Amino acid sequence: MPGTDDGDRPLPRTFGRRRGRPLRAGRDRLVEERLPDLAIDLTSEGPLDPQALFAVPREAIWLEIGFGAGEHLAWQAAQNPKVGFIGAEVFVNGVASLLRHIDERQLDNVRIHADDARALLERLPPGSIARIFLLFPDPWPKARHSGRRFIHTETLDRLAALLQPDGELRIASDDPGYVAWTLAHAMRHPAFAWTARRPQDWRQRPDDWPETRYEAKARQAGRQPAFLIFRRRPALTLP
Ligand SMILES: C[S@@+](CC[C@H](N)C(=O)[O-])C[C@H]1O[C@@H](n2cnc3c(N)ncnc32)[C@H](O)[C@@H]1O
Repeated sequence: MPGTDDGDRPLPRTFGRRRGRPLRAGRDRLVEERLPDLAIDLTSEGPLDPQALFAVPREAIWLEIGFGAGEHLAWQAAQNPKVGFIGAEVFVNGVASLLRHIDERQLDNVRIHADDARALLERLPPGSIARIFLLFPDPWPKARHSGRRFIHTETLDRLAALLQPDGELRIASDDPGYVAWTLAHAMRHPAFAWTARRPQDWRQRPDDWPETRYEAKARQAGRQPAFLIFRRRPALTLP
């Protein structure tokens, strides 16, 4: 069942709020009028074919988890028009912001899951995604909140299963504790190889990776983000 662990207990919440300031009228209308066309329907049973979400076949499917205000997702979708994009975000103001980017840039290659990404991850078929972005996930720095961090062995198992051989998982964080946590989990995971060879490989954001709102906030506050890229090792079958 989506949103539960195997024992049917609800999964710990990985996010803070679902709503911020009331949406301005234009944004409210965008959510009402545009979201139904772009929203992914998870009400039916069985696996969800991501290619079937788009009007034309897509070269690859990329997924962004917790896209925030959607600026990274919209940029990637504009730069890669043959790729189909799926964005998951629980924060309604963020969803409204992505819808505005989609309209402004006239993007036809983005679909939205406006809810907990983990419910979507359970429904996507193995090997169906070529690239996954998790940018500045809520770090939950207190040890007693560690269960709320998005990265855990179980989540990495799921992301590894969804990724195609040689697929990419990109994770950014400005919280040194979360960076260490992510590296510890990913490097002991058999499906992932960290691609960095030298410090600038994780200190410098690659050119095909635009700045997000949270990165800008981190830099303003004097924090140095880390940009981690993991490659999905091929020929490894996971449950
Ligand atoms: C710190 S913000 C970063 C937003 C954006 N990626 C950026 O870099 O500006 C983390 C975002 O992840 C979203 N989030 C956290 N857990 C989520 C989940 N399980 N499913 C979907 N979105 C989630 C939150 O609502 C929030 O918008």
